[in-house]
Amino acid sequence: MPLSQRPPPPDAPSFDELERALAREVRISTALKEVGSALGATLDLDDLLELILGKLTELIEADRATLYLLDEQRKELVSRLVVGEQVRSIRIRVGHGIAGVVAQTGRPIRISDAYSDARFERDWDVLTGYRTTSMLAAPLKNHLGRTIGVIQVLNKQHGVGFTDDDEAILAALSTQAAVAIDNSRLFLSLIQKNKQLLDTKEQLELKVRDLELLFELERATARATSVEMLATAVLSKLARACQAQGASLLLAEDETGDLVQYTLAASDPDNLRRVGVKAGDGFLASVFLDDEAVNVLDGRNDSRWKEHVEGRFPFEVSSVLSAPLDGDAKPLGAIGLFSRSGPQPFSAEDGELLRLVSANVSTAVRLFNASRAREKSERLTSIGRLLSQVIHDFKTPMTVISGYVQLMQDCDDVDKRAEYTEQILRQFDSLTSMQREVLEFARGERTVFVRRVYLKKFFSEITRQLEQEVQGHPVELEVRADPKIVARFDEGRVARAIFNLSRNAIEAMQVRGGRLTLTAGMDGHDLVIGVSDTGPGIPREIEGRLFQSFVTAGKQGGTGLGLAIVKKIVEEHGGTVSVSSTSAGARFELRFPQPEPKDGRPFSLPAGTTKTSTSGDSPASPSKT
Ligand SMILES: Nc1ncnc2c1ncn2[C@@H]1O[C@H](COP(=O)(O)OP(=O)(O)OP(=O)(O)O)[C@@H](O)[C@H]1O
Ligand SMILES: [Mg+2]
Repeated sequence: MPLSQRPPPPDAPSFDELERALAREVRISTALKEVGSALGATLDLDDLLELILGKLTELIEADRATLYLLDEQRKELVSRLVVGEQVRSIRIRVGHGIAGVVAQTGRPIRISDAYSDARFERDWDVLTGYRTTSMLAAPLKNHLGRTIGVIQVLNKQHGVGFTDDDEAILAALSTQAAVAIDNSRLFLSLIQKNKQLLDTKEQLELKVRDLELLFELERATARATSVEMLATAVLSKLARACQAQGASLLLAEDETGDLVQYTLAASDPDNLRRVGVKAGDGFLASVFLDDEAVNVLDGRNDSRWKEHVEGRFPFEVSSVLSAPLDGDAKPLGAIGLFSRSGPQPFSAEDGELLRLVSANVSTAVRLFNASRAREKSERLTSIGRLLSQVIHDFKTPMTVISGYVQLMQDCDDVDKRAEYTEQILRQFDSLTSMQREVLEFARGERTVFVRRVYLKKFFSEITRQLEQEVQGHPVELEVRADPKIVARFDEGRVARAIFNLSRNAIEAMQVRGGRLTLTAGMDGHDLVIGVSDTGPGIPREIEGRLFQSFVTAGKQGGTGLGLAIVKKIVEEHGGTVSVSSTSAGARFELRFPQPEPKDGRPFSLPAGTTKTSTSGDSPASPSKT
């Protein structure tokens, strides 16, 4: 029998049924296509899920549909999207209720009468007044096959319950939904990673800024020789780094505890202002008092604002960021930034940087204070040393004064007495100049005064005084100084060196007597002054330590300072001292380097310019050329 004449089997679908089925298939494939292209086109997960769930409810004619995502940590399903009902957040524990069981087993569940299924939980119906009959739930599985959620549809609108076809549609769409969720998560994690990278980059840039600033500060503080220099360097760099209009440094004076505030405007970084303030006066003094940082947006309306402090800044104050400078027991002061550009307060990063800078500045200030204290104590020690040297050298003028006073006692000649008086007054000048030396040193001033000295005059003065020294000793004095030489040195100091050497020589020849010889001449560019004697020579045991302080031998009442003073004086002139000694005597040689003269005639007076006094006693007074 031909196929067309054959009667249809009794259970064969009717033409209408076939047409409906075809239309349905078309709808399903259209829906899947739509979802598929939406998947490639939109990245908004909610839009995609809404589309999927909408298509699903439409295709399988469900009353409502819910998509749950699995919260793995809490072991809960959380509703992400609901169709056909008011949106509320629903949480279902994994293993509980139909959706919970699907999440747990990873297998779909289809039931036609919910109330007759033990796994169904009625709470939701009770709560909402809804009546659930048929249910279909399928897991959402990602590309690894792991359940990441559940789609659940309720109440098939026509017929008794959901069909195999419905289950197939749900399976297909839930695969699409899982892909969408996966994609979106991937995308989100990429965005997050990207953001993390950007954040890290920003943080790194800030760290680099901080490190650069700290490095610059480290260098600036090391170079600073005064608190003002330190404040200028720190405040200008800090204000620039944090985009502040100005910055201030408050320091408590080491000894008095007085507060001094240094302020700088970023626009005028060379103009540091210094004012004294009281504790609690203005922001920094309050931070210092409370030992607590502040960060405020509107400084003018803050109780710590003081018109006579912040009101006088060379810039308008808006935001304020300030931190105390850590000291050992209490803060050393405070540091602050003012008026960040823009409407924002100073950032947490600025606060962190300020904290680092304040630690850096605290250390610098502490070092400053310590070095000032050390300098002071060093100066006191040096003053003590200098005083002992000066008092030591008082001996010469004292001896000379006492010699002239004795001469005056036995002298009726008015002229002679006048001359002795003049000599005594000269010795007082020398004492006064020594006293001045100590006082000038105490004030931190330079005390070597190198001048042009005419050797003829210089040595005739020395000779006169040494004559007083040798009086009463079995010592002959001989002075051989080139009278034409003009050299540069500190007269008073070099005279003291010569007296010290001569006195040692006289003391060495005390017993056996002998000759003290002074010589002066040029050796190349050096002025060389020699002091020699015919005594027993330097005692062996001290030869190596001769020029050290307190080294003395074979003398009663010797302090051992004389030669140390000689060495110091010579070195102050950039010169050297040497000694040669035998059992027949000792010779000390002082060398003073001289600058090269410009006229090519080294170190001597031009002929005919020297006026020599007719009297052997009064010194020559050469006219200066
Ligand atoms: N010309 C010299 N001949 C022999 N010994 C000398 C001579 N000059 C110095 N000395 C030795 O060197 C020592 C140190 O001399 P120095 O002038 O430093 O101290 P002092 O003379 O002992 O004491 P002061 O000068 O402080 O009163 C002397 O004690 C002496 O022993
Ligand atoms: Mg001596």
